[in-house]
Amino acid sequence: MSLMVNIGELTLKNPVMPASGTFGFGLEFKDFFDLKKLGALVVKTITKNPRLGNVPPRVFELSSGLINSIGLANPGWEYFREKILPQIKALHEVLILNIAGESVEEFVFLANEAQKFEEIKALELNVSCPNVKKGGMAFGTDLEALKQIVSAVRKIYRKPIIVKLTPNVTDITIFAKASENAGADALTLINTFTGMVIDVKNKKPLLGNFYGGVSGPAIRPMAIKMVYDCFKAVSIPIIGVGGIDSLDAALEFIMAGATAVQVGSQNLVDPGFLPRLVEQLELYVKDSALGNISELTGIVHRGG
Ligand code: DOR
Repeated sequence: MSLMVNIGELTLKNPVMPASGTFGFGLEFKDFFDLKKLGALVVKTITKNPRLGNVPPRVFELSSGLINSIGLANPGWEYFREKILPQIKALHEVLILNIAGESVEEFVFLANEAQKFEEIKALELNVSCPNVKKGGMAFGTDLEALKQIVSAVRKIYRKPIIVKLTPNVTDITIFAKASENAGADALTLINTFTGMVIDVKNKKPLLGNFYGGVSGPAIRPMAIKMVYDCFKAVSIPIIGVGGIDSLDAALEFIMAGATAVQVGSQNLVDPGFLPRLVEQLELYVKDSALGNISELTGIVHRGG
């Protein structure tokens, strides 16, 4: 019995990892549990230059999830390279760097830089942040821009490229296929849905940036459907994300077609959830007499 999965050329000891942005750089979590228990470590989006992010308030808790308008706040590549990477490289053997840019050139710059570091094992391209107009969601909703970014990064980056797509499009399978054709090795589905909360007392939007990205259990059924649809449309692995807060929720994604899963909002609610999910998956695979967890990937397409 094994939880081992492959994402492109990467072999992960299990299919469980944090979703970018909900786990910082892993440093705050390392005191809660041994991060090496996870399949990989995915860090908060890094951009070429530091970003302060959007005006507060930036996060609000919903009845079944979160809404955020962080706006890709991060210390920038240089600080990451000098101060953070040396601290986190020992935390996990599979470090996935999530990057975003305001232009194709910025994505290429970051990919070139990342390639110089042996400890960075793969890139996750964030073309789907809903909170930054320029260099955020725009790329992920613009098919031509998406193709340009993925193929430009593919030309120069030799390790696995994972493309994180936005659900804020009419048909996500078109974007999934375009990413695959442009050279992506895997897809992360999905980033957050755009949404809004009104502060009734003050008669104005609650978030400083007016709108934000909705995450958590609220978006899970939509995320599952997108994974299900994309599994049929592409032949590269899918990493499922969107409201995983239990073993069954993770299994739903895997059965719909995910090879691996990411946990986002739940990390903020329950910092010990990720390692418990690994343990629960281990028991599940053992009890179901499966040889490997990947036997379950897309099983609903095969009639159960
Ligand atoms: O909902 C999101 N918020 N998705 C992202 O990709 C980035 C994040 C932010 O920084 O705004």
